[in-house]
Amino acid sequence: MTEPVPHWRRHAFNVAAMRDLARAKLPRPIFDFADGGAEDERTLRRNESAFADVDLLPRPLNGAATRDLSIELFGRKLRLPVIVGPTGLGGLFWPDGERCAARAAAAAGTAYCLSHGSVCTLEQLAETGISPRWMQVFIYRDRGFTTELTERAAKANYDALVLTTDNQMLGNRERDLRNGFTIPPRFGLNGLAAMALKADWLWRMRNDLKRITFGNYLRPGESTDIKSLAGRMAALLDPSMSWTDVADLRKLWTKPLILKGILHPDEAKMAVEHGVDALIVSNHGGRQLDGAASSLDALPAILDAVGGRVPVLIDGGIRRGADVVKALALGAKACLIGRPQLWGVAVAGEAGVARVIEIYRQEIDRAMGLCGVTSLDQIDKSLLLTKRIGPSA
Ligand SMILES: Cc1cc2nc3c(=O)[nH]c(=O)nc-3n(C[C@H](O)[C@H](O)[C@H](O)COP(=O)(O)O)c2cc1C
Repeated sequence: MTEPVPHWRRHAFNVAAMRDLARAKLPRPIFDFADGGAEDERTLRRNESAFADVDLLPRPLNGAATRDLSIELFGRKLRLPVIVGPTGLGGLFWPDGERCAARAAAAAGTAYCLSHGSVCTLEQLAETGISPRWMQVFIYRDRGFTTELTERAAKANYDALVLTTDNQMLGNRERDLRNGFTIPPRFGLNGLAAMALKADWLWRMRNDLKRITFGNYLRPGESTDIKSLAGRMAALLDPSMSWTDVADLRKLWTKPLILKGILHPDEAKMAVEHGVDALIVSNHGGRQLDGAASSLDALPAILDAVGGRVPVLIDGGIRRGADVVKALALGAKACLIGRPQLWGVAVAGEAGVARVIEIYRQEIDRAMGLCGVTSLDQIDKSLLLTKRIGPSA
């Protein structure tokens, strides 16, 4: 007998629908924690709307009966150019949320990046055996702690290290202020009422809520209290971070090193000069500096500055397969998704993330077929009519 299709699955026909499903399932403060951006959320909105300013010029007569969505990155084949990006507190959305998402990514044949702020530890994620797995870190005031995390990632056999550069001071996320949501999650009366209204989530999380913590920051014998850990984490981040730190990390980490949070072409050039292996053009999904350029708007100048010396990846506002095709047509190697995978986790754990990745796969495949391209290396500027970026090459 075939299993009945779950209710959510019938409705999860695109990423926006997955967001709606997540909104219906999660307590408001938790939904907003993931969904929101900094201040007036201009950068958040622009991340998405920038894709509407880039138009595709299809050539269906090229014939594209079969399409190959795979790419090669750091010598590994990925089955599609969509990677699951690092998002903190994944385990707040679903029990063991990070490992669910990682399994879904691996099953789909793509990479998963664990956040510094995951609920599970980086060792627990590694125990799943999923690969490629990337680890995201920061530069801490105590440089010894950056070293410690990096060495732990090396010992746990992570395939790449991602240094996020745009989070040394926490962005001003006003939805969280309005909802009384803080990191660590603490709920006022309204928050508690919102939680109680979402009985499914509350029931599912009943055992895990007590254990929500920043797993990677725990030290033997220290308090597991997320409140003291979050305080320590915020105090740990160092806004005086500089290129010396990148150079030090480069010496310490021998596998691929990726810089995430690059928007300025000068920084992109410097990164390449410091021996970085790839860049992620990103503004942290509009969660940090409101008013920062959207990732897609920043991409062309960065590609010019890099001149093909290292792969350039992008995240922020990628909600459709056609968005991925547009980013690749401009010259990006691959895209990362942040919120969409969290919406998937919130809706159905591993199956939800699997569905989100499948939506991108189907949409990219369809867009390629309609454009008349059979492989990703055929996607270039000749596929674009852009109003702002100028005529195609
Ligand atoms: C809830 C949440 C938590 C995040 N945590 C991290 C993090 O710990 N480290 C990091 O580098 N980026 C983090 N990000 C940023 C994402 O990696 C990514 O840059 C961004 O979400 C991409 O935009 P998108 O959500 O529009 O796809 C987080 C994003 C969200 C939504």
